[in-house]
Order: sequence, then C-alpha cells, then structure tokens
Amino acid sequence: MKSALDYVRIFDTTLRDGEQCPGAAMSENEKIEIALHLAQMNVDVIEAGFPVSSPVQFKAVQRIATEVEGPIITALARATRGDIESAANAIRPAKHKRIHTFIASSPIHMKFKLGKEPAEVLKMAVEAVKICRDFVEDVEFSPEDATRSEQSFLRELCEAVIEAGATTINIPDTVGYTTPYEYGELFKFLIQNVRSSDRAIFSAHCHNDLGLATANSLAAIRNGARQVECTVNGIGERAGNTAMEEVVMALKTRKDTFGIQTKIKTEEIAKASYLVKTITGMVVQPNKAIVGANAFAHESGIHQDGVIKNRETYEIMKPETVGVLSNRMVLGRHSGRAGFKDRIVRLGFDPQPEELESAYQRFLEIADRKKEVFDEDIRALFADESRKSLDDRYLLESFHVTTGTKSTPTASIRISVLGQSKEESATGDGPVDAIFKSIQKAIGSDAQLSRLVISPVTEGQDALAEASVTLERNGERVVGKGSSTDIIEACSRAYISALNRFSLS
Ligand code: KIV
Ligand code: ZN
Repeated sequence: MKSALDYVRIFDTTLRDGEQCPGAAMSENEKIEIALHLAQMNVDVIEAGFPVSSPVQFKAVQRIATEVEGPIITALARATRGDIESAANAIRPAKHKRIHTFIASSPIHMKFKLGKEPAEVLKMAVEAVKICRDFVEDVEFSPEDATRSEQSFLRELCEAVIEAGATTINIPDTVGYTTPYEYGELFKFLIQNVRSSDRAIFSAHCHNDLGLATANSLAAIRNGARQVECTVNGIGERAGNTAMEEVVMALKTRKDTFGIQTKIKTEEIAKASYLVKTITGMVVQPNKAIVGANAFAHESGIHQDGVIKNRETYEIMKPETVGVLSNRMVLGRHSGRAGFKDRIVRLGFDPQPEELESAYQRFLEIADRKKEVFDEDIRALFADESRKSLDDRYLLESFHVTTGTKSTPTASIRISVLGQSKEESATGDGPVDAIFKSIQKAIGSDAQLSRLVISPVTEGQDALAEASVTLERNGERVVGKGSSTDIIEACSRAYISALNRFSLS
C-alpha cells in the first residue's frame, strides 16, 4: 500500500531562481501577492529569496515569512555563516521554516569559481549544514552543478551532509546539461548508495537550456525524487527552470504511468500563470504547454469537429482542471455590475468595492470600443485596477498623439501629479517614444526604460493590448502594467504605473 508520505513535494522557486532572470524583478508587495497565491495552490515549499544579497531581498523574505501561512518558507544561503544567519533571521517569523544552503561540487566550479579543493568544499558543506541546524530542523543542501560533478564525490558529499543533519538533498542541474536517462540514473545511484539516504528527501532542480527540464524532473521522480523545484511559467535564469504546471499536470494526466501525485490545487494554475506573467512582464509563448493562450485552442476543422463530437479526441486535459474557464460567456456593454462582479470572482479575484467600481467603469469604456469582452480582457483590466493604490502619485488624464509616414511623431499628455493637472508635449522616434518623453517631461523623471513588451490579450483587430514597462532609476527596477484597446494608451498607463512603483526618495 502507498504511504501518505509518498507524494511529490512542490518546491516553488519563482521568487528566488525565477526572479534571478533578467527583467523579472518584483516589488515586495508583488512577491507577497504571488506567495499568497502559491499558498492558496497548496505548494509545499516557497523559496522566498536570497536574504543576504540585499536589504530589499531580506525584507521581502521576512514579510513572506510573516504573512504567508501554510507552506514551508525557505531562503537560500551560500555555505557561509553570514549567509546562513541572514537567511535564519529572515525566515524566523514563519511557522514552518527551512534553510537552503549550497556549495558547488563540480570540478570546473570548485577550481575556477571557488578556488577550492574537494576536501575543503566537503568541510564547508558539513559546517554549513551544522550551522543551519542551530537555527532550524529542516535543512536543504544543494551541491551546485551536481550533474557535472564526479559521482563518487557527490555520493561522499551527500552522505556527509545527511550525517550533519540535512533533511533534503537537492541535485541541481545548474546549467541544464543533463538528459532524462542520465538524471534518472543519478538519482537511482545516489538513493541506492548514499548511506542513510532514507533519512532525506531527494529533490530535482532543473534548468531548461536543452528544453529538457520537465522531462529530467519526471525522470528523477521515477527514480525516487520526492521533491521538484520549479517556477510558475518556467521563468528563471537563461532558458528558465522546470515549469511547475508542466510537472504537476504530467503527473496528474499520466497517473497511469507515474502512479504518484502532488498536492497542488491544479485549478489555481491559470491564475498563478497570469499573476507571474503580469507582475514580471515575462510573456508566455502562445504554444507554451498548459498555460499558453493556445494550449486548449482547436483551430483546424478536423480537430474542431472531433472535439465537438467528443472532446477527448484531441484534449488530454480539461481546461477547467487548470482553471481555464471553458464556458466563455461573453460580457458586453449591457452587462450589469452583478454579472461583472460574478465574473471577476469566478476568475479567482476577491475585489474590494472601490476596485470593483473603477474596474466596472473601465469595463464599460472598453465594452464601448470592443464588441465582445472576454475573460482574458476582464482579467487584464481588473489586474490594472487592483494594482492602483490610493497613494498613486501620477494618474493619466488624457493624451493626444499624431504620427504618420511623413510627419514627426508628436505626443501631448495631461497627467495628474499629486492631484494637480500637468500638460506636456514631446516628439519622438515613434508615437510610443513621443508619449514616454512627454510623460517624463511632465513629471521631471530621469528613469531609464529597460524593457517594453506589448502583447494582445485576445485575438482580433479590436483586441485589448497589455503593455508591460520596466524602468530603472538609481539601481531600483520597477515594472508597470497597463491595458487598453489603444496600444498608445496601454503603453502610457504601463509607464505611469511603473513610475508610481518607485519608492519615494
Ligand atoms: O541551479 C542551481 O544550482 C541553483 C542552486 C542554488 C540550487 O539554483
Ligand atoms: Zn537554479
């Protein structure tokens, strides 16, 4: 009989490894918003950050440890006392806490990065785990670049850290180098040959450089891994980390072959994906497994015909299982507040009355410009409204843009700055450049634009566009969002929303 303990723990590292990738920086409140949703999804562990790396990181981890209940809250620390103490202090308020310490174990990392001999690395690892155990009972150890490490050294290292008190052994494929067969064999070897391996949970941590992160994680599970480290939408360094939704849904959909499950509430997947996409500004490719816009779309006539006759002809998962509403009732300009609220709630939001009212007013504006308002549109505009805060310094009042093949793009803008209307105009290389320059002039900003992503929310000429703007100023990076059927308006809203997110200096 299967034991209740025999399940795959989901260790979500969206807020640590995910946030490490270029452009994915999140504010403290955004991290809390994601962490609360991860708890709602029932993830087992949230890796909240790397506290020693900056006071901003420390504070975010500490807030998550204070405000998020349910999952184990963990923080990353190199194998040094300073890092470990910082992690321990940051996670102290959490009810369930873990410290995750790591040191590189591959010849290339030990020689060139650490400048240390294997024996020194082993000593540091053991020492680090013992220091962690002074603070917490739950300690995870990772031999970084494990898949390019010598197996005999890896075995010795795992044995020593378990002896020192590590309760989870994570085997990172740091550079996305391994393949499913090799990674599976590595788990089999370690679980069979590490003394006292039964005293620890073995964990998979994969990067997607060869597009194999999910396959590698599943191979590890087949060979005894009982924790998978992953991120929502697979965001992360370079080609990203294992995508949580892919592993979870593979185990669920193919339970006949894996025979083991996670405890994730899969209906929360779509909302998690949406939150991470809008907060980080990292778009999800339309054909991305599970959460891409086309993941449940059937375009060809033969497929549509099959699905109408029996959806299982071409659908291996029901969209509702991952929280995609299959009943896409369209709202329009005649829809009332009650219908609008009902839809917002069914999309998984919990609106405050004032958020609801301003979102409803924007919905009416959009319904006037667009024939049909879909769930995706409502999600986008509600996300815009719910991100506004009462202390927003800047608000878009109106704008005007002229452009053409033979004229210089020119924009004028009227913004409320701390309650006072200000007007400015500017020219630019294009209409978006002109509007951004006019906003900068109006509020006297010297922030640098580091990223602009514009994506359609749904299809069609009248589709709502969602813009994501990343700005940097004095080392602070902020991301703002905006949506509208008018691309220039979406960009202006996103730019202003980013400016509102800079901390007051
Ligand atoms: O990829 C990696 O090696 C890591 C470790 C810090 C676990 O993220
Ligand atoms: Zn990693």
